[in-house]
Amino acid sequence: MAFGFLLASVLAAVVVAYILTKFFREPEMPSLPQNPWWGEGEPQAEDTAIRPFTINIPDEDLEDLRLRLALPLRLTPPLEGANFTYGTNSDTLKHIVEYWRKEYHWKEREAKMNELQHFKTQIEGLDIHFVHARPQQTPSNVHEPIPLLLIHGWPGSFVEFLGILPLLTSPGEGSGRVFEVICPSLPGYGFSQAAAKPGLGLQETAQIFLKLMKRLGHSRFYVQGGDWGAGVATQLATLYPQHLRGVHLNMFRPQTTMGKVRQVLGAFLPSGTLMAKEEEGMLYPLLEHAKWLLRESGYFHIQATKPDTLGAALAQSPVGLASYLLEKFSTWTNGANVNKPDGGLLKGFPIALDALLDDICIYWFTNSITSSMRYYAENMSRERAAIDTSNIPSKVPAGLAAFPEEVLLAPRSLMAHKFHDIVTYTRPSAGGHFAAMEQPGILARDFRAFVEAVPFKQAEQGGGVYLDYSPY
Ligand SMILES: *[C@@H]1O[C@H](CO)[C@@H](O)[C@H](O)[C@H]1NC(C)=O
Ligand SMILES: *[C@@H]1O[C@H](CO)[C@@H](O)[C@H](O)[C@H]1NC(C)=O
Repeated sequence: MAFGFLLASVLAAVVVAYILTKFFREPEMPSLPQNPWWGEGEPQAEDTAIRPFTINIPDEDLEDLRLRLALPLRLTPPLEGANFTYGTNSDTLKHIVEYWRKEYHWKEREAKMNELQHFKTQIEGLDIHFVHARPQQTPSNVHEPIPLLLIHGWPGSFVEFLGILPLLTSPGEGSGRVFEVICPSLPGYGFSQAAAKPGLGLQETAQIFLKLMKRLGHSRFYVQGGDWGAGVATQLATLYPQHLRGVHLNMFRPQTTMGKVRQVLGAFLPSGTLMAKEEEGMLYPLLEHAKWLLRESGYFHIQATKPDTLGAALAQSPVGLASYLLEKFSTWTNGANVNKPDGGLLKGFPIALDALLDDICIYWFTNSITSSMRYYAENMSRERAAIDTSNIPSKVPAGLAAFPEEVLLAPRSLMAHKFHDIVTYTRPSAGGHFAAMEQPGILARDFRAFVEAVPFKQAEQGGGVYLDYSPY
C-alpha cells in the first residue's frame, strides 16, 4: 500500500515535471541565420545605399484600374436584413465602388503621400521601403529627436500612419519631445519587395528592421505597433532588447503558456481572482470570445494555409480586393458593425473613405495582396515552432494600450508573464484595431505618456541602462 502510494507519487511527480519542463520552461533564444538572402537566386553583395523614392504609379496602371473598375458589377444582392453578417454587404460595396470610380482621385492622394520623405534600401536581398519623418527643425528648448520605429499590420500599410506622423514629429503639449519616425513597409507589403524564398516571418522581419535602424544610425530606439507590427515589435523586444529603449503595443494577447493557462483558469475561478474585475471583459465570457474569434477568423486560416489560391482572385479584381479588405476595416473597428447595413463604413466611420481607398490602392498598385497574406503562412508553419519566442520574457520597458474595440487584448497581469517591466498599461476611451488611423491623437498621447514614464520609472528604481536617455 505504502509502496503503491510512493510509486504513484513518484509517477505523478515525473508527469508534472515533464509538463513543467515541456510547456513552462523558458525556451532558448533561437538563433536565426544572420545574413539570409530573401531575393531571387543566389546571394549577392548587398547594395547598402539609401535611395530616395517617390511614389509614381504609371499611367498604364491607372488606366488598367479605371478599366477594371468600369466593368459591370457582378455582385449578388445581399440577403434581406443580413447587413454585414454574411460578409461585405454588396449594396454597400456598390456604393463604395461608385465613389472609387468617380470621386476618388489617386494622383491627388499620391501627391499627399509624397509630401513625406520615402526611401528604399536593400536588406538581405530585398528592397525595403520606408517613410522617414523627421522633425521640421528642432527648437532649442526641446530634446534631441527620439528615434521611433513605427510598424503597420495587415490589411494596413504606411498609410495607417499618415495622421499620426505630424503629431509625433512636432513637440507635444508640454513635453517638447519630438520623434524621428521610421515607418517601414513589411516585406511583401506595399513598396517593400516580397521574399522570393519561403520562411520570412516575424523574427526575420525583426532582424531586417533592426538592420534598417542601424543603417540609419540608430542603435537604440523605441518601437510601436499593432497587428503584425505588434508581432514584430514583440520579437524585437525579445530577440534584441539591448537595442530598444521601449516597446509600445496597441494589440496584444496572452502569449506565454502561463498567460494562457491563467486565461482559461480565470473563466472558472471567482471574479477578481486572477485579474482586476474591470479587465475581465477583455477575455470573458471565454466561450463568447472564442465563438466570436472563430466566426471572424476564417480569413486567418485561409491566409495561413493557402494564401496563393485566394490571392489570384483578389489580385485580378479591385472590387474583390476592396470587398475583402473593407470587411476587416468594418469589423475590426467595431464588432457591432456587422449588424449595420453599411458595416458602419458610410456614416460616422472613424476612418475617412479616402484613407481606406488609399490603403486598398497601395495593395492594388503594388500587387502585394498575395505576398501580404503569405506572411500568415510564414508565421504559422509547423517548422517555426522551433523558433517561437512566445515564452521568452522581455525586460524592455513596455507600454500597453488596450483600445476598447481592439480584437485581441489581455489584462495587465496576464501580459506581465511576457513583459517584466510594464511601465504603462492604459485603457484609452475610444478606438479599435486601427488605432493609428481611427484615433491618431489618442494613440500619440498614449505613446508620449509612455515615453515620459520610461526614464522616470527607471530613475525611481535607481537608474540602470534605460536611464541613458540620449541615443546620440
Ligand atoms: C505568430 O504570431 C503570433 C502573433 O504575433 C505570435 O504570438 C507567435 O509567436 C508567432 N509564431 C511564431 C512561430 O513566431
Ligand atoms: C440589420 O440592420 C437593421 C437596420 O439597422 C437592424 O434593424 C437589424 O437588426 C440588423 N440585422 C442584423 C442581422 O444585423
